Amino acid sequence: MSQMKTIYLKDYKKPEFKINSCELHFDLFEEFTTVINIMSINKLEKSENDIRLDAMDLELIEIYLNDLKLNDTRYIIGEDSLTILNVPESFSLKIKNKIYPQNNTELEGLYKSGSIFCTQNEPEGFRRITPYLDRPDVMSVFTTTVIAQKDKYPILLSNGNKQNCHDFMNGRHGTTWHDPHPKPSYLFALVAGDLGCVNDEYTTASGEHVELNIYCDKGNESQCSHAMKSLKESMAWDEEKYGREYDLEIYNIVAVDSFNMGAMENKGLNIFNSHYVLADEDRATDANFMGIQSVIAHEYFHNWTGNRITCRDWFQLTLKEGLTVFRDQSFSADLNSREVQRIEDVKGLRDRQFVEDASPTAHPIQPNSYMSINNFYTSTVYEKGAEIIRMIHTLLGEENYRKATDLYFDTFDGQAVRTDDFLWAMSKASRIDLTEFETWYHQSGTPTLKVEESFHNGIYKLTLTQRVPNAVDGSVQKPYYFPLKIGLIGLTGKEILERVLIVSKEKEEFVFEGLNSKPYLSINRDFSAPVKIQQSTKEYAFLMKHDKNSFVRYESAQSFATETLEEMMESGNIDEEFLEAYGYILNLDIELSYKALLLELPSVSTLMQRQDVVDFVPIYLAKDRLERELAALYKDKLQELYKQNHKPKNKKLDAISMGQRAIKNRVLRILSALENREVIDMAREQYKESLTMTDRVVALDILENITSEEGEVALNDFYNRYKDDTLVMNKYFAILAASHRNGTLERVIVLENDEVYDEKVPNLVRSLIGVFARNYKHFHAIDGRGYSFVAHKIIEIDKINPQMASGLASAFKIYERLNNENKELMKKELDRVLAVPSLSKNVYEIISKILK
Ligand code: PHE
Ligand code: ZN
Repeated sequence: MSQMKTIYLKDYKKPEFKINSCELHFDLFEEFTTVINIMSINKLEKSENDIRLDAMDLELIEIYLNDLKLNDTRYIIGEDSLTILNVPESFSLKIKNKIYPQNNTELEGLYKSGSIFCTQNEPEGFRRITPYLDRPDVMSVFTTTVIAQKDKYPILLSNGNKQNCHDFMNGRHGTTWHDPHPKPSYLFALVAGDLGCVNDEYTTASGEHVELNIYCDKGNESQCSHAMKSLKESMAWDEEKYGREYDLEIYNIVAVDSFNMGAMENKGLNIFNSHYVLADEDRATDANFMGIQSVIAHEYFHNWTGNRITCRDWFQLTLKEGLTVFRDQSFSADLNSREVQRIEDVKGLRDRQFVEDASPTAHPIQPNSYMSINNFYTSTVYEKGAEIIRMIHTLLGEENYRKATDLYFDTFDGQAVRTDDFLWAMSKASRIDLTEFETWYHQSGTPTLKVEESFHNGIYKLTLTQRVPNAVDGSVQKPYYFPLKIGLIGLTGKEILERVLIVSKEKEEFVFEGLNSKPYLSINRDFSAPVKIQQSTKEYAFLMKHDKNSFVRYESAQSFATETLEEMMESGNIDEEFLEAYGYILNLDIELSYKALLLELPSVSTLMQRQDVVDFVPIYLAKDRLERELAALYKDKLQELYKQNHKPKNKKLDAISMGQRAIKNRVLRILSALENREVIDMAREQYKESLTMTDRVVALDILENITSEEGEVALNDFYNRYKDDTLVMNKYFAILAASHRNGTLERVIVLENDEVYDEKVPNLVRSLIGVFARNYKHFHAIDGRGYSFVAHKIIEIDKINPQMASGLASAFKIYERLNNENKELMKKELDRVLAVPSLSKNVYEIISKILK
């Protein structure tokens, strides 16, 4: 199958042609769209005589070369290309073709989301619009005219600044946009629709006025204010922290319901999944609000890290994504609670990236091969990529880091570059040699750091040994170079020192002299390096009490809980000391959202990652039992905390109000382990009286999981209240799909026929099927029906939207490490998927790697 070809970084070749300008005309109709693409092209040195353009599923109408119409002996139409034979040094090429956005269910290229025309071109969608050199290192100046029926599509948008508008006699109208900044085709965007709009403005540090617009379905305008506020905060932050200003007269954001990912940074015209734009307290949770703030920032920050400086090829994806995630994480930390932000980021990394890194689909943040580049928008490229930038930031220090990013922007503005170019700027400006550090870009898997301590005659010795796992192909990998932030704490809890150690060898010793007694070690403060720590000393309770580093305190609580659960799984015994330490946290007077995190028990994913052979049943049994134990033991204190912080009529979004909701909902969840009348009443009351969605979803989730009757009443109420709001209905589907109650799979199957559910809308598929595939209890049920159901869906959805199908397939990444019984059941289903003749390369790549 030619489609299943593997692409290698080592085969990269420079483009042979340059596209100086690209003028596009779109004529949008209900049945089809015609595209006219006029390019001015130059041969670069030593070029071929033929130009091979990328083209996918295009219906060609005509081609003109320097105004002469070409007959079909002058070009060849290939499976995914259009080759024009024998072209001169410099020429203009005009191509007219036809596409069918109405039938586009893959949501790549030009498609319809409801009644809105929109585009998604990263990474390779543009070739589904018009023939082009669809690769990020070909940058061109775009001028775009969009023509459509005026009453149905009054709003016509593209990249850059608006040039002019025309009304035509036949009820159609057109708008022309010009983007002065050369850009690769993946950043091209177009939108047409009858949209509502919220308008604002921003003045840059150098006094330029920028018009800000957020477009959405009519009626949703009032839900855009948080996104707008976040946009302005992002613009100011990037000026202050990186010295980067916005560079066009307009910044447009459009919210659409059908979108494969979170959002897209198209130049001057971001297109967003409406999930990351629309919010009010009645419909969105606090977590949703935070998510909007960070994704708005992420896309805005791409304007410099991604758009002005882009990637040479898709193997360099982390150049823009790792860096931009690091930037949005820093932004969120600056605007909210730094300690909570760091913990949440690390939690996300461990739950998703560590799992991926331990699977057969593990890859370096800069991969060296792929079948489908769509499969590489991974937590490794994004979140681990961000950790790598964070380490550079730690190694350089704030001041040098800023100098280095300035140098990066000065040197590479307007270019398509490599991660090596970024590293060059980092080390050039700081004079810090990063040669050894580069390993992080080329190796996969999470290293483990073994820690040994000794103390004699006032000398404390720390011995660190790195264990680096082999690559997926079995090859041996090198030890890493990284900053390890540690603290030493005295017996009374007083901090002795804090230091950033540079670890670079497989085995290394660090010596600290002049100490009175053996200190307590606080290791990997702030999670300075993305490694696993393996320690034999158990000083968790002490560190939970005395460490001034909020991350290590959290970490100690987590490790203590993890080991307590593991001991329960082994011997059935519950460590009294842990129960005591938990009580200690309950009584601490600390920031409430941080406290809520300290009280959370480790995720099933955390525990599963530590098992050699994964068996989910003992994990959730132990977790359930420990929760019940804690709830019973601390019932009074928990109730008291709940009462103190339950403010049902408060829907404010300030840190204190959100902290109160975080803690009281954490407490309610712990209490719900008791499954008694009292808790049911509390949850039911909370569902009824609270004004926030944050409170309502927690209450609903608890009711659904402990009592079918009460759950049903509340869920019906929710359904009737929100059935016309698809975005909110995602929460409904997700709660039911995640339920631990018996019969969940049956209910999921029934919900597929619900009138609100639509298999073509990625958000809904993720909420129902995606969430079910992460429901450990029911997905991994030993009757095998969970696996079979999801496999069946993958096959079905692959025909509609391969990217969405391969996303679902990632639930099977655990395969290799499962116990025999589950493994056998899963294998049957994976074989079945792989045997489908017309499988997309997206799904093929994931499943074939899992089975290898
Ligand atoms: N570039 C987008 C982002 O990270 C992600 C994306 C990739 C969106 C591919 C759509 C398709 O912000
Ligand atoms: Zn991004």
